[in-house]
Amino acid sequence: MLDNFESISPTAIVTAYPRQFTDIPYEKEIYEWLKDNCKDNDVKLNKLLAPEIEARYKLTNKILDNLNITQVLELAAGYSSRGIIYSKRGYEYVEMDLNNVSKNKIKLLNDIAEIPNNLHIISGNALNYKDYIKCDKCLDKDKEIAIINEGLLRYLTFEEKEVVAKNIYKMLSKYNGVWITCDVTPKKFIEKQNTVLPNFNEDLNLVISRNNLQDRFEDIEHIKSFMYKIGFNNVEIHKFSEVKEKLKSFNILDVKGENYDVI
Ligand SMILES: C[S@@+](CC[C@H](N)C(=O)[O-])C[C@H]1O[C@@H](n2cnc3c(N)ncnc32)[C@H](O)[C@@H]1O
Repeated sequence: MLDNFESISPTAIVTAYPRQFTDIPYEKEIYEWLKDNCKDNDVKLNKLLAPEIEARYKLTNKILDNLNITQVLELAAGYSSRGIIYSKRGYEYVEMDLNNVSKNKIKLLNDIAEIPNNLHIISGNALNYKDYIKCDKCLDKDKEIAIINEGLLRYLTFEEKEVVAKNIYKMLSKYNGVWITCDVTPKKFIEKQNTVLPNFNEDLNLVISRNNLQDRFEDIEHIKSFMYKIGFNNVEIHKFSEVKEKLKSFNILDVKGENYDVI
């Protein structure tokens, strides 16, 4: 029986699959590995999710690249390639995810590449502050940190989102730096997602009971007031359209972009 949060883990395959239809390094090898080694996951895969997943990945990179910060803690990193890519560029990079995904990630990376000494894969729960403390040994306290997450808060209740946000705030109070997240899905975005990907949310609901409309932010004002309440008083909103020139999946999949919320 999966515990409450482990039930979210199959969604890491849902987001890894469409990244093959982009130009992001390692993603094809990662998905091939998952296909061969995680056979009992009965999640529905949808390649039309690629533009959204590619946009959030590339926008996060763009924001990170524009900062003068070279150590990263990526929460709920799943099977994303960002850690291996940025650690090879010299970043001190810590990935934290739940136990099963972290164990798979280590096996996966050992099979398709070599894990650099500056990439640390830690198993932990983003709701438990003591698991963040495990990351301290891999990080330099005198340097600022970028905390990143793509796709976790969406599956949490507002009470749970608040616990994660407070943990991140506490880490940033220690290191200074920024939190970069695309993970504040407003209701309008889900409506658009349902138009472009008619069965996506229905299929997701078959494998996860945590994909609920009441757990979505209403709009940007709601996101900001949530962040202000935690203590983040400098909130910047970025748009996926900032990376529209970099998106390759439209051509790779031969789909038109106008219905997507990314251009
Ligand atoms: C939609 S996937 C996103 C994975 C990756 N960021 C990506 O974009 O492909 C959600 C991830 O959240 C992780 N997760 C769920 N609950 C978690 C928790 N409480 N603490 C840390 N990670 C969690 C899952 O294991 C899964 O890898």
